[in-house]
Amino acid sequence: MSVTDFLPQSYSSQIETGEVTWRSPSNIALVKYWGKYGEQLPQNPSISFTLDNCHTTTTLKFQKVQAQEIIAFEIYLDGVAVPDFKPKIATFFERVVAYLPFIKEYSFRIETSNSFPHSSGIASSASGMSALSLCLMSIEKILQPEMTADFFNKKASFLSRLGSGSACRSIEGPLVVWGENKSVSDASQIYGVTYKEEVHSVFKNYQDTILLVDKGEKQVSSTVGHGLMHGHAFAKARFEQAHENLEALTNAMRQGDQETFIKLVESEALTLHAMMMTSHPYFILMKPKTLEVIQDIWEYREQSGSKICFTLDAGANVHVLYPKSEKESVQKFIGDRLARYCQNGQFIHDQAGLGAQQIS
Ligand code: DP6
Repeated sequence: MSVTDFLPQSYSSQIETGEVTWRSPSNIALVKYWGKYGEQLPQNPSISFTLDNCHTTTTLKFQKVQAQEIIAFEIYLDGVAVPDFKPKIATFFERVVAYLPFIKEYSFRIETSNSFPHSSGIASSASGMSALSLCLMSIEKILQPEMTADFFNKKASFLSRLGSGSACRSIEGPLVVWGENKSVSDASQIYGVTYKEEVHSVFKNYQDTILLVDKGEKQVSSTVGHGLMHGHAFAKARFEQAHENLEALTNAMRQGDQETFIKLVESEALTLHAMMMTSHPYFILMKPKTLEVIQDIWEYREQSGSKICFTLDAGANVHVLYPKSEKESVQKFIGDRLARYCQNGQFIHDQAGLGAQQIS
């Protein structure tokens, strides 16, 4: 499908006022999206586990008004107005208005809350932007009831991408691919697709414990980070490597090859940080405790033969990944050895999930 397929022809129904609620999860990339061009298009393909417990719930209340060029909205987080969120949402509305022309004829009240602690360093943009996009799609579905479920999900992902690239991987699960590549034939640059190839049972219900090593504000926004890949000395090689890693990772997941999975996932995380350390300006987004966690994970793996590994976002927090069969032993190890590196001892046990859910 191309961008023009998401421009609606005409609406067959009408609605004055109402509200819709969606709960949408965060996701954790195994092969990372880092670098974009044009209107939120990825420089390389990525694949992620959709999460389950880390999610945003958004209620969108809408009321018909006289058509206007600037979309009228208010936004509340946990019941409190958050004017700081407005510029990002306003940009999102500007980007999506061509695909959702009805939004000019409504005013909106967005009420949102996250299951994870605010400013925990867990990116809420993937869950937040996908939840809002799904709410908008629910309104469009009321105006165009003949819309298919497949189109609904693709367009929800397409719109989420315009809000935040990685958000397009939060609609479905447990594995989602975004960006054209030769291993996944239905993959697209403009939306995420559920990975439908065979996956070995050891990778089913994969566990992810997020260690909140540093809950501070992000040093660099992802948008600025992506920008640093323009003119980066290693950009071309990195984008090619992501294609190779995606192919190797999907092969490893089919074969149940945990050793290769671990090597690729950890290398992707360190490469993401290496790109930031070698850009201009350069950044170190890991903290000393991030490195201590990594050392302890490696030591534990060496000693126990566990298939535990780590990945990182563009920050200091660590995602600890492990098979379901090791849930008890690894969670004990986390409590005994890794909790000490977390701010206020905080970590969140999560697992691969199936994607967003409509609440009302
Ligand atoms: C490091 O999706 O947050 O988490 O498109 O600018 O909103 P924008 O960026 P964003 O970037 C996420 C980057 C990452 C890797 C990943 O999730 O693939």
